[in-house]
Amino acid sequence: MTQNYRITLLPGDGIGPEIMAIAVDVLNLVAEQFNFSVTFQEALIGGASIDATGDPLTAEALHRCRQSDAVLLAAIGGYKWDSLPREKRPETGLLGLRAGLNLFANLRPATILPQLVGASSLKPEIVDGVDIMVVRELTGGVYFGQPKGIFETETGEKRGVNTMAYNQSEIDRIGRVAFETARKRGGKLCSVDKANVLDVSQLWRDRMTQLAAEYPDVELSHLYVDNAAMQLVRWPKQFDTIVTGNLFGDILSDAAAMLTGSIGMLPSASLGESGPGLFEPVHGSAPDIAGEDKANPLAQVLSAAMMLRYGLDQPQAADKIEQAVLAVLDAGYRTGDIMSEGMKLLGCRAMGNALLEALKE
Ligand code: IPM
Ligand code: MG
Repeated sequence: MTQNYRITLLPGDGIGPEIMAIAVDVLNLVAEQFNFSVTFQEALIGGASIDATGDPLTAEALHRCRQSDAVLLAAIGGYKWDSLPREKRPETGLLGLRAGLNLFANLRPATILPQLVGASSLKPEIVDGVDIMVVRELTGGVYFGQPKGIFETETGEKRGVNTMAYNQSEIDRIGRVAFETARKRGGKLCSVDKANVLDVSQLWRDRMTQLAAEYPDVELSHLYVDNAAMQLVRWPKQFDTIVTGNLFGDILSDAAAMLTGSIGMLPSASLGESGPGLFEPVHGSAPDIAGEDKANPLAQVLSAAMMLRYGLDQPQAADKIEQAVLAVLDAGYRTGDIMSEGMKLLGCRAMGNALLEALKE
């Protein structure tokens, strides 16, 4: 019997629907080639959901995601919804999805492809060969800690509050994912914190140090987050795997992404203890180019590959997609965000078609 996977698609906002359409074509083709089948169902999230239901993530959409084998998300957000109250903003839908599926481990690879070394804003000798995996804690820390809100003090002044807190068990479970990940890569793990100032970071550092005893084959180091940001742009090749909390991971993963030239190339995977994972590009919804057929679909397609690898246990199909991405780049095809002299500029759909051709070879 052929294996069938139920995949919930969340196209979201902006360029989301355009790049999702490419990923769907790619998935359909590799399913045929590798003899499994995929059943897609769509659900709403972000601004699209706000417009249709008033809510950035409905219970119904979350339920659909829970019932599936994996969730593929494109992007959310846009100017249109930026001034809504926080509980009605697109980002709140995404945070609700991460929390609702208990996706505490976010894997964000930043690998520079040899074809795109020139697209980085850093010198080629700095970025050539960069291959970093950022393991970001995703359902805790200051994003979710209580108390939070804007309160009024006794003097009637307003006071904004968020709480950065981690339980030991939350640190340990993301730590284990990171040590396992480092073990399968270059065997080096750098834990990033702010233990010189924050108590929550001191606990983080203590736990990582403790866990290291269970992984003698992994070399653990620690950096303060300010230094880590500096080191990332100074000499990124010193990093293999990075583990850090939610907020620091948000910031450092964007910085790491930019080393590779375009955030339009990078996929991510968010995984829980069990249940469906969530796979999405690191980039946002790019409302400025939405609907113009200019978006780079490669991060979305690479997210589909991560879904096949980490979520659905179809590593060969994942390899095939990754090879096809390299093949179209080798052929000189580029979208606007990664365009350089002498290359052939393609729109989103044409890039998708080039990928499908490469997959058929
Ligand atoms: C990300 C994004 C999100 C985050 C936003 C959209 C809520 O920046 O996935 O990195 O801060 O986690
Ligand atoms: Mg971010």
